[in-house]
Amino acid sequence: MHKDCERIMLTEEQLRARVKEVALQVDEIYKDKRPLVVGILKGSIIFYSDFIRFLTMPVELDFMAVSSYGSGAVSSGKLNIKKDLDRDVAGRDVIIVEDIIDSGFTLANLKALLTERGAASVMIVTLLNKKDRREYDIAPDYNCFDIENEFVVGYGLDYNEQYRSLPYIGILKRSVYEK
Ligand code: IMP
Ligand code: MG
Repeated sequence: MHKDCERIMLTEEQLRARVKEVALQVDEIYKDKRPLVVGILKGSIIFYSDFIRFLTMPVELDFMAVSSYGSGAVSSGKLNIKKDLDRDVAGRDVIIVEDIIDSGFTLANLKALLTERGAASVMIVTLLNKKDRREYDIAPDYNCFDIENEFVVGYGLDYNEQYRSLPYIGILKRSVYEK
């Protein structure tokens, strides 16, 4: 385990098994469709690449990078699009793949945006869900794991752009971000 982690929350085996289970459920629902699978950069990349390999219908892949202005507990209420989609979503069945839903700000705004652009449907798939932190009225359609309010890294998730390549989800030691 990485020295900056307090403990491993989800092992590689747990991640592999649960991601497969969720992906197969999504696969069943979209089997007669050709969804546009939108990964939210960068946190979702490892989950995204594991998830899409269980989908059996023809899919198109696309990505967005977003950030919220301001930080911490108080959102300023504006989503900043750092990289937009390449594809037009009008009339498309969109599956948003995100690493974690925390306050819900990012996904509430993204869902509204893609709906406004004319997507036929927008489904949200998340790896992690911090339910107790929700401030916006949004819930994932599919979620792999509900987690407690702890700051986690690995399997794509970062702290200051570090730890994304860890193959497991670990709880970051408080001393790393409280110093
Ligand atoms: P929301 O907009 O408040 O739902 O925040 C979602 C974003 O916050 C995620 O896409 C992550 O980038 C980040 N985030 C929230 N909790 C964590 C965590 O425990 N580890 C790493 N990133 C997190
Ligand atoms: Mg993110």
